[in-house]
Amino acid sequence: MRVGVLTGGGDCPGLNAVIRAIVRKGVKEYGYEFIGFKDGWKGPLESLTIPLDVSSTRGLLPRGGTILGSSRTNPFKVEGGVEKIKANLAEQGVDALIAIGGEDTLGVATKLHSLGVNVVGVPKTIDNDLNNTDYTFGFDTAVNIAVEAIDRLHTTAESHHRTLIVEVMGRHAGWIALHAGLAGGATCILIPEIPFSIEKVCAYVEARYQTNYAPIIVIAEGAVPQDGDMITKDGTLDSFGHVKLSGIGEWLAQEIERRTGKEARTSVLGHIQRGGTPTAFDRVLATRFGLHAITAVHEGDFGKMVALHGTQIERVLLSTATEKLKVVDPALYAEAEIFFG
Ligand code: F6P
Repeated sequence: MRVGVLTGGGDCPGLNAVIRAIVRKGVKEYGYEFIGFKDGWKGPLESLTIPLDVSSTRGLLPRGGTILGSSRTNPFKVEGGVEKIKANLAEQGVDALIAIGGEDTLGVATKLHSLGVNVVGVPKTIDNDLNNTDYTFGFDTAVNIAVEAIDRLHTTAESHHRTLIVEVMGRHAGWIALHAGLAGGATCILIPEIPFSIEKVCAYVEARYQTNYAPIIVIAEGAVPQDGDMITKDGTLDSFGHVKLSGIGEWLAQEIERRTGKEARTSVLGHIQRGGTPTAFDRVLATRFGLHAITAVHEGDFGKMVALHGTQIERVLLSTATEKLKVVDPALYAEAEIFFG
């Protein structure tokens, strides 16, 4: 058996740990051969490969990014893309493919499976917004990076009596903002799921100053004011139709300054949240996902994604991972709201 592995979409701490686990168990337990496809779906589309074996995957556990490279290539947007992928897989002698990715990568995997390709999916995204898994690896690392930033910003906010705003990632789901804001003791947390009232935010800011404690606001990049729109970087779309976000934090700082007369500044964490070594939690989750993914291949259980349910790794239909986005439950947000102001 020859198994192809690819990583697609935004890079994410833990990708290399998944690759290492797939290869280690696949070679040791099943005697499989592996081939890495470079740069997401671009790899099988253009037959861009790198060798994958136990020695080439040694030392990967703590390493961020992905040794396979990644891209946001959408083969369904390429003329004859599916046929090219099928032909290239056949030419490389690949019997099964493990796709490690988020909603876009796994959306492609779902369609390819329905067209006869043997695929198993592994859920990845720092955003934690994939359906039918309690957590995706990468999320815990991103939250810890954001919490460290918030902890550090507290001292400047207090020394200068400023409002400091931390803009974190999360286009449509505010998981990073919610968890980092809760763990970092934010004055308020603004997420895409719940359009915010600027008047309320300013009231929280004023309330925090009254207790002689400087405000910290955590805002997701996709958050929107009740009477405004999402703020985008420029008008360009990627091949999955996503706009580039960022700018809402700066907008909020200006609005707070204008309305309260007090200084407000924004720090945009951006790709720092996706960089560097994974936390121990993400290393373990990524490793377990990899071990279970290669077992699914061994059992011929294609069209499935490995998923975390409670403490168990289970298999779910790949199609369920992307049929809707896993967004923040308003009840969970209400728990955090107790600490606002
Ligand atoms: O999906 C992961 C993610 O980090 C999102 O939170 C963010 O909006 C997006 O990727 C940014 O993507 P890129 O690095 O391609 O601009």
